[in-house]
Amino acid sequence: MNKRDEIIHIPEEELLSQRQFAEEFKQLPERPQTYFIVTYGCQMNAHDSEKLAGMLDGMGMTPAPRKEEADFVLHNTCCIRDNAERKALGNVTWLKEVKKERPHMLIGVCGCMVQEPGMAEKLLRQYPFVDVAFGTGNIHQLPELLYRAAETRRRVVAVPEEQSTIAEDLPIRRESLFQSYVTIMYGCNNFCSYCIVPYVRGRERSRTADDIVREVEALKKQGVQEIMLLGQNVNSYGNDVPGGVTFPQLLRRVTETGIPRVRFMTSHPKDLSDELIAEMAENPALCRHLHLPVQSGSNAILQAMNRKYTRESYLEKVEKIRKAAPDVGLTTDIIVAFPGETDRDFEDTMDLVRQVGYDSAFTFIYSPRVGTRAAEMSGRIDPALATERIERLIALQEEMTQMRFAEMIGRTESVLVTGQSKRDESQFTGKTSRNISVNFEGSADMIGRIVPVKITAASKTTLKGKI
Ligand code: 5AD
Ligand code: SF4
Repeated sequence: MNKRDEIIHIPEEELLSQRQFAEEFKQLPERPQTYFIVTYGCQMNAHDSEKLAGMLDGMGMTPAPRKEEADFVLHNTCCIRDNAERKALGNVTWLKEVKKERPHMLIGVCGCMVQEPGMAEKLLRQYPFVDVAFGTGNIHQLPELLYRAAETRRRVVAVPEEQSTIAEDLPIRRESLFQSYVTIMYGCNNFCSYCIVPYVRGRERSRTADDIVREVEALKKQGVQEIMLLGQNVNSYGNDVPGGVTFPQLLRRVTETGIPRVRFMTSHPKDLSDELIAEMAENPALCRHLHLPVQSGSNAILQAMNRKYTRESYLEKVEKIRKAAPDVGLTTDIIVAFPGETDRDFEDTMDLVRQVGYDSAFTFIYSPRVGTRAAEMSGRIDPALATERIERLIALQEEMTQMRFAEMIGRTESVLVTGQSKRDESQFTGKTSRNISVNFEGSADMIGRIVPVKITAASKTTLKGKI
C-alpha cells in the first residue's frame, strides 16, 4: 500500500465538531426547519441519502412531504450515464422557479455528479440558485456546510481532491425497519474503460470487519431481517488492508450474528473466488442470489472494456456456481453499443444471455463519460442501431425470465413480507431469497416477517403465490 492509498478514518474530533455545528444550527434564528432529499442512482446513493437524512434529523429538521414545501431540498445525484445527469440537473433547474416564490428555500446538490472534474465550477457558474454543493467525500460535513449556508446566506461548495476517508458512526435514518443497507467498502480500482465511478468515488477503501459486524449486530437487535452488504466490487473486500479479512470470511462473520438473511452487491466476475462459491453453497443465511455483471458476451468488447475476464472464463464461473449451488439465481448488467461493437459481437452477447438464463438483467445503451478511456474510442454506434439491439436483448431476457419463473411454480419459497398493496388491502408483497417479488393474499401482521409462500403463477416481472 503506498502513501496515496492510505485510508484515513475521519478522526473523532472532526465528527464531534460536526455535532457542534448541528447544535449551533438549531440555535440559528429563522433556520430551515424541513428537508426533502431527492435520490438518483444506485443503492450506494440510496444509503448515502439515509445518512444525510440521519444528519438532518440530528440538526433538528424534519422531513417535508413534498419538495416544493421543504426549506432545504437536497439532490443526491448520479452520473453513471448521461441521462441520469440530465435528469438531476433538469430537476434542480425546475426548483429555481419554486425558489422565486419561496426565497428562503435552500437548494443543495451532492453525490457523484458534484465529484466530476469541473462540475463544481459549472454549478457555481450556471446554477446561481444552488446554495450548497458537496461531493461524495464530504457527506459527513453536511451539518457544517448547511450551517454556513443558512447563517451567511452565501453559497458553500466542498469537493475533496482525493477521496481516502471513511466516516464511521454517522447517524442513519433507515428507510425500512426490516431491510438495511450496510456499506462494506467504498470506491473502485477497476477502471472499466466506460465507467466514471473510479473517478468520482475514488480508490477502494474497506471498512474494518469489526465495524461492519458491530453495525450488523445492532441492526439484528432492532429486529432487521435482511441486510444488503454494499460495495462497488465486494469480491475485493479487504485487499486494501494488509492481512485483511477476505470477503467470504467477512460473510461468515456477518452471518454468525444470527441475522436471518444476507445479500451483497456487486460482484466483479474476475474476482469471484472458489472460496466465495463454497460459502454460497454452504451458508444458509446467504440469499440465493448473485448479481454478476457480464457487460458483454464478446471477448473483443470485454477486452476494450478492460473487464479482465473472457466470455469463456465467465461461463466457467457460472458453471461452477450452478454445480455448487443450483438454487442460486443469477442476474446481470449488460451494455450494448459499446464503441466498435459489431453485429457479431452483439450476437455473442445474445448467445451468452441464452446460455446463462439469467433471472433478470439490467440493460443499458453505452453512454460516453468525459474523462474515461472509452469516450476517446472510435467506432461510435448509430443510435437507431443501439436502440434496435437493446430492444432485441430486452425481449430475449423477458423470455429467459419467463422460463425461470415457470420453474418456480409449485415450489414453496421463504418470502420476506415488505408491504401491502395500496389498491387491494388483502394483497401483500415480498421478496424470495432469490430476490424475486411475490404477491399473495395475507395479513398486516406478516409485514417484516419471513413466511412460506407457495408459488402458483407468474406475471411478467413478479410471481403470484398462496400462504
Ligand atoms: N454507459 C452505459 N452503462 C454504463 N454502466 C456503467 N457505466 C456506463 C456507461 N458509461 C452500467 C454498467 C454497470 C452499471 C451499474 O451501469 O453495466 O454495471
Ligand atoms: Fe465501474 Fe467497473 Fe468499478 Fe463497476 S467495477 S464501478 S463498472 S469501474
